[in-house]
Amino acid sequence: MDTGTKQAAVVPAEDLAQAGLLLDIDGPVATITLNRPDKRNAMTFAMWRTLARIGDALPGSVRVVVVRGAGKAFSAGIDLSMFSSPEGPRGDDPEAGDRFIAELQAGYTWLRRPEIVSIAAVHGYAIGAAFQLALSCDLRVMAEDAWLCMKEPALGLVPDLTGTKPLVDIVGVHRAIDICLTARKVPAEEAARLGLAERVVPAAELETAVRELTGALLAVDAGAAVATKRLLWQAPGNTLEEQCAAERREQLARLRALRGN
Ligand code: CAA
Repeated sequence: MDTGTKQAAVVPAEDLAQAGLLLDIDGPVATITLNRPDKRNAMTFAMWRTLARIGDALPGSVRVVVVRGAGKAFSAGIDLSMFSSPEGPRGDDPEAGDRFIAELQAGYTWLRRPEIVSIAAVHGYAIGAAFQLALSCDLRVMAEDAWLCMKEPALGLVPDLTGTKPLVDIVGVHRAIDICLTARKVPAEEAARLGLAERVVPAAELETAVRELTGALLAVDAGAAVATKRLLWQAPGNTLEEQCAAERREQLARLRALRGN
């Protein structure tokens, strides 16, 4: 497998390296590795912008995207040096600040699109921006000694990298308040109980568990997977009537596709 060539076709290898990312595309599976292990994969503006570029350029043949961290942990969240970066958003120019943050959020939102299933493989810890990255994935597989933490309010900030909606959708407003406003560590066992992790496995089995999950996802018909994910993500915002209509539309499209017309 010529991984370098495949990476370069999506985002140039030097841009990935500068952003602290690795990208491996192996047929229908893309693996994104947060790769600044000496800094616990602390996340930079460049990393988030490059994640957005990967999302934009991902080949249509990719069906599963795995997001993982190199070294000791998934990620310690924002690189604290970003707070003093002259590049960072400032509150005194709301329009420019809004554009700046929207650009970073684009690194997260693509992980939800129907054409792929995204899996966060979380070991060690996922703090702040990294917890939000895990939340932007469809599925989270956690090592049993891993933990999550929404640290932002403890730093005087809010979680602004797309995490508040999935968090509330999964655990409800009350538990989300508990998790965010105490900035406490949520251990894997609790994460599983709250629905924040779909699988919890011994740390040594994380890679195998993700590989098996990926295999199971790829065994399902590709077109049906896209249509079903689209339906499921729409469901919370739809009335029963709207959702029934959406099911009919998607099913008729599937039937046409299966008949080849
Ligand atoms: N930014 C920059 N460097 C970081 C970092 C971060 N977020 N987290 C860890 N590092 C660096 C450390 O400074 C250290 O570097 P040196 O070896 O050069 O001194 C190296 O990574 C290893 O760190 P530790 O020895 O502390 O490693 P650990 O595995 O024991 O990590 C930790 C423990 C709990 C992650 C601790 O490092 C920590 O609390 N880090 C900060 C976490 C944090 O506050 N993140 C921000 C969350 S908020 C957010 O993400 C979103 C937002 O917009 C505000």
